[in-house]
Amino acid sequence: MSAELYERAVSIAAKAYAPYSNFFVGAAVLARDGRVFEGVNVENAAYPLGICAERTAISRAVTDGCKPGDLEAIAITASPCGGCRQWIYEFRFESVTFQNAEGEVITRTPAELLPETFEL
Ligand code: THU
Repeated sequence: MSAELYERAVSIAAKAYAPYSNFFVGAAVLARDGRVFEGVNVENAAYPLGICAERTAISRAVTDGCKPGDLEAIAITASPCGGCRQWIYEFRFESVTFQNAEGEVITRTPAELLPETFEL
């Protein structure tokens, strides 16, 4: 399934709005009930206002009613940034599949990507 989800992320990446970085990122989230939510990065001329593909996909899942624990897996065409790792941790994904800097597609747990997180 992670290979299939990763292919969804690759396909949707073409829709990224990334005129400033030209770094097109796609993400696909698999919910436990089988729904898939896709997202892309959306940039802005005011650079810090851009949003990553992962957060777009997770926001779409939340908009459709998903909560932490409802989301099983996420696949991303790039290595998730620090902020997105915190988002991924928050939603208690089981697995994170992404293409690392060496070009390999690997799967990790949120805790491997963001160890020693705080709890409120
Ligand atoms: N980007 C993502 O969408 N996800 C990541 O985790 C890495 C970075 C986007 C943000 C920005 O639009 C572009 O890639 C360059 O940083």
